[in-house]
Amino acid sequence: MLQARLTIDPARTVGPVSRRLFGAFVEHMGRGVYGGIHEPGHPRADGNGFRRDVIELVTELGVTTVRYPGGNFVSGYRWEDGVGPREERPVRLNLAWHSTETNEIGLHEFASWLDEVGAELMLAVNLGTRGTLEALDLLEYANVPSGTTLSDRRRRNGRPEPFGVRMWCLGNEMDGPWQLGQRSADDYGKLAARTAKAMRQLDPDLELVVCGSSAASMPTFGEWERVVLGHAYDDVDYISCHAYYEEKDGDLGSFLASATDMDRFIEAVVATADHVKAVRRSPRTINLSFDEWNVWYLSRVPADLPRRIDDWPLAPPLSEEPYTVADGVVVGSLLMSLLRHADRVTSASLAQLVNVIAPIAAEPGGPAWRKPTFFPFATTSRLARGVALEVDVDGPGYDTAAHGRVPVVDAAATADDGTAALFLVNRAQAEEVEVSVDLAALGTDVLDEALTLADPDPYAANTAGQQDRVRLRPNPRAAVVDGTLRVTLPPVSWTALSLRSARTDRPSTTGQQQDHAPATTPATETRSRTWQQ
Ligand code: AHR
Repeated sequence: MLQARLTIDPARTVGPVSRRLFGAFVEHMGRGVYGGIHEPGHPRADGNGFRRDVIELVTELGVTTVRYPGGNFVSGYRWEDGVGPREERPVRLNLAWHSTETNEIGLHEFASWLDEVGAELMLAVNLGTRGTLEALDLLEYANVPSGTTLSDRRRRNGRPEPFGVRMWCLGNEMDGPWQLGQRSADDYGKLAARTAKAMRQLDPDLELVVCGSSAASMPTFGEWERVVLGHAYDDVDYISCHAYYEEKDGDLGSFLASATDMDRFIEAVVATADHVKAVRRSPRTINLSFDEWNVWYLSRVPADLPRRIDDWPLAPPLSEEPYTVADGVVVGSLLMSLLRHADRVTSASLAQLVNVIAPIAAEPGGPAWRKPTFFPFATTSRLARGVALEVDVDGPGYDTAAHGRVPVVDAAATADDGTAALFLVNRAQAEEVEVSVDLAALGTDVLDEALTLADPDPYAANTAGQQDRVRLRPNPRAAVVDGTLRVTLPPVSWTALSLRSARTDRPSTTGQQQDHAPATTPATETRSRTWQQ
């Protein structure tokens, strides 16, 4: 069996873990909104047509913030279409996803859905086909208490109190040739700066996100960030990052190491933002909003969707990834990359939430269920509290075609007031790894939970007919003995461990579904068991 030793010193903190790291993204795309969160005829639909079973799963997922309404969709969106009496709302073309937009769901409906879910709304404005004035109108409609035409219109539309939206994205992926209203870095940087200044003039407390590159693979990556921030540095708080990963050409080893790429991506954007800071001698620091990230099999998406002038389907199924255990393990390690950079990545959105590139599947008229990517997200959101800590991993490595040599074990840790959480990935495809951690410095000696996502088949998935094939299971081979934590990680697996000091009360578990491993299981008792038992 492979061995790895971790060193964690609570004095070596990365930064506070922002709850906004556990955000998600809902776009008017495919069956994300219509037929996802909203399905009026469904047996579990509430009076507003929202599926209660989906609300329950989103709540269990522990989503803190939701970015809305796009994505590419926002670059053709008129927010006014989605407010006011439903019967008067126009039916439009969703050019981004070649479908029909009925505008049945707009700002009011989505905000009330978020109230049910208990998450914060993060809005994107259209800087593709629209500009500063329309962004100001939306801001006035959403945030001004009353006494103006637009704020009073909101009140008449059933919302007396302002929405009070704090986080705003200044457009979406404005460098992308696929984007309605694509711009050069220079043009976009100027527009974003102008719009940000105007929005702050209306509401000084906003937190504004300027678009970074739509991917690190864009030919203008790096230079785009430098030029855009050169214009907008003083007017924004965040620059966005977007990244999607997939297994290509059967290269599971590279895919499992996707977090290496995310680490490098984050560090490159931080370096570029700090370069602009230095050049401007600015006291401000720009943080990162990683507001689209996930596993997405983009290479399986046909390059040319049928785009006939007489065929604009309603909520067509798009990118409904089945997701496997390996995908779940990668999502777990991408979350670990976000935690490792918690000092600078202070907001993030898993893209997306229901049906489309999503951890939750919802069948029309049928069940909703958790895909393998659900589990690491829900558990990390539940357990990662307080501050993120640096973790040194002393263990084996392997060579990948995409990322060079990478460690077999990926790790992240957080600590909070006598408790700690440890997140581990074993990237080896055939071998178990025993991980040991000396807990003396952390001062935690009780193991409350040890949960592992693994399966003899790394491509196992959940389906409507078998919704629980893949789930978290207690890891029976985890124990604290004489102040050392030892845990055995199965091949291609993700594990979360929650620890506390014997002097700390057992932390509450916020009512989420989980399996508990026995606390402080004697290692000698469990060592002979196999994973499947
Ligand atoms: O999340 C799906 C799409 O991916 C978004 O609309 C776009 O911003 C990105 O390219």
